Amino acid sequence: ISIDVTKPGSSIPPTLHGIFFEEISHAGEGGIYAELIQNRGFEESRIPAGTKLENGFLVPWPEKPHFMIEPKKTDWKLEWPYKTQWPAWSVVSKNGAGADVSLSEDKPLNSATPKSLQIILKKTDQNGSTDVINEGFWGIKVNAGEYYNLVFYARTDEAYKAPVNVSLQSPDGKILSSHQFQTINGKNWKKYSCTLKADAGDDKARFVISLRGSGQVWLDFVSLFPAKTFKGRANGLRTDLAGLIEGLKPSFVRWPGGCYVEGITIESAPDWKNTIGPLESRPGTFSPWGYWSSDGFGYHEYLQFCEDIKADALYVFNAGVSCEYRSGTYVPEQDLQPYIQNALDAIEYAIGPVTTKYGRMRAANGHAKPFPLKYIEIGNEQHGPKYASRYNLFYEAIRKKYPSLRIMASMGIGDVNQRTLNGMKEVDIVDEHAYKDAYWSMRNTDHFDKYKRGQWDMYVGEYATNAGVGAGNMRAALADAVYILGMERNADLVKWSSYAPLLVNANDVDWPVNLINFDAAKSFGRISYYTIKMFSDNRADRNITTTVELPPVNTSAPLFTGGIGLGTWDTQAEFKDIEVSRGDKILYRSDFINNEKEWSKIRGEWSVKDGAFAQTAEGPQRLAMTAQQFDTCTISLKARRTGGLNA
Ligand code: AHR
Repeated sequence: ISIDVTKPGSSIPPTLHGIFFEEISHAGEGGIYAELIQNRGFEESRIPAGTKLENGFLVPWPEKPHFMIEPKKTDWKLEWPYKTQWPAWSVVSKNGAGADVSLSEDKPLNSATPKSLQIILKKTDQNGSTDVINEGFWGIKVNAGEYYNLVFYARTDEAYKAPVNVSLQSPDGKILSSHQFQTINGKNWKKYSCTLKADAGDDKARFVISLRGSGQVWLDFVSLFPAKTFKGRANGLRTDLAGLIEGLKPSFVRWPGGCYVEGITIESAPDWKNTIGPLESRPGTFSPWGYWSSDGFGYHEYLQFCEDIKADALYVFNAGVSCEYRSGTYVPEQDLQPYIQNALDAIEYAIGPVTTKYGRMRAANGHAKPFPLKYIEIGNEQHGPKYASRYNLFYEAIRKKYPSLRIMASMGIGDVNQRTLNGMKEVDIVDEHAYKDAYWSMRNTDHFDKYKRGQWDMYVGEYATNAGVGAGNMRAALADAVYILGMERNADLVKWSSYAPLLVNANDVDWPVNLINFDAAKSFGRISYYTIKMFSDNRADRNITTTVELPPVNTSAPLFTGGIGLGTWDTQAEFKDIEVSRGDKILYRSDFINNEKEWSKIRGEWSVKDGAFAQTAEGPQRLAMTAQQFDTCTISLKARRTGGLNA
């Protein structure tokens, strides 16, 4: 390898490494957002706005993309409403007590969150009690000696008079911390709060409200936060997860999706205005990944997080097009104006002067200074004419009002070089998404070298080696490193990148490979996390010219050896520099093993036509089709000429 320092290549902007946060796999709710109570507002069993049900089921993804984890637990054919109307909650009566429980819409706490939990206590003997229990997000991590802030709303009928006990308990009923409210009697909603100090710890604790006596009690917005949050912020973030992210020193944070931005329908797609203001009146957003976000980690909190970790904000909004896999609903162009205005309002909230409507609202919410919003992205993974016409309208309005913001165009998954603009008029930055198999980056080191220059800057908004690498391993980390080197070498074009997905709660895995894994108690970065951290800690700022000379290829070596990583959008093995003649046949065999450890064999042959492989009916198409049915597989390929010569 010769290095010529006198010939510098392109410089590498400090923006190259950022992060992408999406509400997937409980990344936010039950993840980085430090709330410990799952389904705190009892709204989880609501049917998402605009969703059509078929025989009581949420309409499944008509063509489930083959990269989804299979089998996904329940939600691609989600039984709706859930089996229980109050997921994560249970009610247990003891010592002769009894209770009837239901979800009530009577006298709601506010109109945005209509449901509350109604408990009708039956006559009990004196020692009887009824526990209303929340399991947290697959357990609540309680640390001995630490403090937890509880808030809840309650109202009662006249008959309810007894004291109310709240506690943190280990699964076997050991009390870790408790507090008694003398009474919660009153026909109107009232807020109650206390701080719980834990005398002992448990990784899988639960939260319990114990009621006694008789009468009726309604509960709503039950929220419990560790007193320790990232940067000490109220309504804040988990210190371990936010700390891991901060450790990557991201130059920007893309938020909030991903498919999340698209929504199952336009009606249920996220709207920033629903994610600011009092927590108890945020209606929440249904994630297309099968659960509700309370939106406690809302737009303001996201912008605050960017500021806290010294990153720029990259906000993505729905482009008037919902997730095509699910429903693919579109806002007619003539009705798009309110959506465009909504995006402009979001920008005004982030960076507008305090004399403007939304700038003033930001100041009232505690942040007079503008937030570091630098980028806007229009939609996610969409392209094509319906997207293009909507993109143009958003682009024009934003460019006119905010000329200094950088605007990104979603371009879908795969090679942007192959795309036509379909009428998109002005394109400054394109966002290409790249989920690849184990060896893709090694086979395609020149991927970005081949891109046209001068049309636009490029953002690789989602990349990951996520097939043929288990849940993420050293092979993935090496392949990611090669991919990142390709971006660095082409940094005259590629100026931003972010790995995806960033976070996964091990109890609800929506995607095969993720950067940071966690449960209620623990968290760790996979090896790719440390790959990216290494690049980020040691940011290159310019390329230098290198020449690599390789020894001649050994032509007596086999045509192909080893396994082919199963890709998501690229599953082909490439045969390069193999001499073949017309009429030659290449036989192949492939043995797949699926998750149940059943083998499936396919055999076929490729014939050679005009010096290139032509595909027979049993050829690569069949291989590719079959490959999609498996999460992992081993493929052995033997190539043989019909002349009988084994290669
Ligand atoms: O990162 C997971 C998903 O991958 C994102 O939601 C989507 O944009 C992409 O297809």
